[in-house]
Amino acid sequence: MIVDVHTHVFPPLSRAEGRLLGPAGPWLRRNADGTGMMMCGDEEYRPVSAPLWDPAPRIAAMDAAGVAVQAVSSTPLMFGYGCEAARAADWCDLVNERILALCAAAPDRLLPLCQVPLQDPALAAGTAARAAAAGHRGVHIGNHVGDRNLDDPGILAFLEHCAAIGLPVLVHPWDMLGATRMRGHMLPWLCGMPAETQLSILGLILSGAFERLPASLRLCFCHGGGSFAFLLGRADNAWRNRDLVRADSPHPPSHYTDRFSVDSAVFDPRALRLLVDVMGPERVMLGTDFPFPLGEKDPGETIRACPGLDGAEQALMLGGNAAAFFALDGARPKTTATERIA
Ligand code: CO
Repeated sequence: MIVDVHTHVFPPLSRAEGRLLGPAGPWLRRNADGTGMMMCGDEEYRPVSAPLWDPAPRIAAMDAAGVAVQAVSSTPLMFGYGCEAARAADWCDLVNERILALCAAAPDRLLPLCQVPLQDPALAAGTAARAAAAGHRGVHIGNHVGDRNLDDPGILAFLEHCAAIGLPVLVHPWDMLGATRMRGHMLPWLCGMPAETQLSILGLILSGAFERLPASLRLCFCHGGGSFAFLLGRADNAWRNRDLVRADSPHPPSHYTDRFSVDSAVFDPRALRLLVDVMGPERVMLGTDFPFPLGEKDPGETIRACPGLDGAEQALMLGGNAAAFFALDGARPKTTATERIA
């Protein structure tokens, strides 16, 4: 069974509904020719195609690609983290309701992930609990809120809450650093996103957050964890040689690779091989970024081309790990090293 953990939707939301987030709020313009445009207020943001909002062509694309299940996340443009928190909470309730409605077209194929007003972790915890009760199967969060990284105490409390209510967390980079120096050529996607994700993972590790977060937390980072795996040796070396680096983390960064998962969206079998060597085959899950143009067009092609994987490892990465991560078919979430020790 092939499960894609990283896909996006932009459910139908009108201009008036987008105004909940202010005059430049996001909404979906559907064009007469069947295409669409993601809008920010009056501004055109990005042209999009029907599988982003319409379950019928989405399921048809999944059937054509042999994908059994997709975890369905909103589009980061929709997070609303910059808005006043109570308004953002109302917005998230609306978005989450629309995601549920979209996934209801094929409840055994589309796993709804909610979004939350992460700028206010207490409100976010309430939103996540409501969404889970309504049928959401996980939560999709951005990798930071303004200047607050994931190791912010409030965001850590939110992650603890997710672990307590059994809600898996998918972390997506957004609002990329260095924007003024990455004005063209989609450089924020090519350089900013991988750096953002590495920053989030290293921030959690070096702050000692994984020493406090429950081992039952299910956490997955998109885009193969960004630059993390390739630069893990550099981080370990720094931890060994500089007290500044290891001040808050009792173990080197490579100690914590059993505390989170990553998706497979690295687009090069050699990079995926390194990722599997670093994370282990039980910590890498198919993720494509469907239906965006930067996504993997043939879901699983990089996994199938990855050298040195046996059939069982391929099956884990194509779907077995995700089935455990999202507790599909009653499958239990994987036991972590810490739980095994306990
Ligand atoms: Co994505």
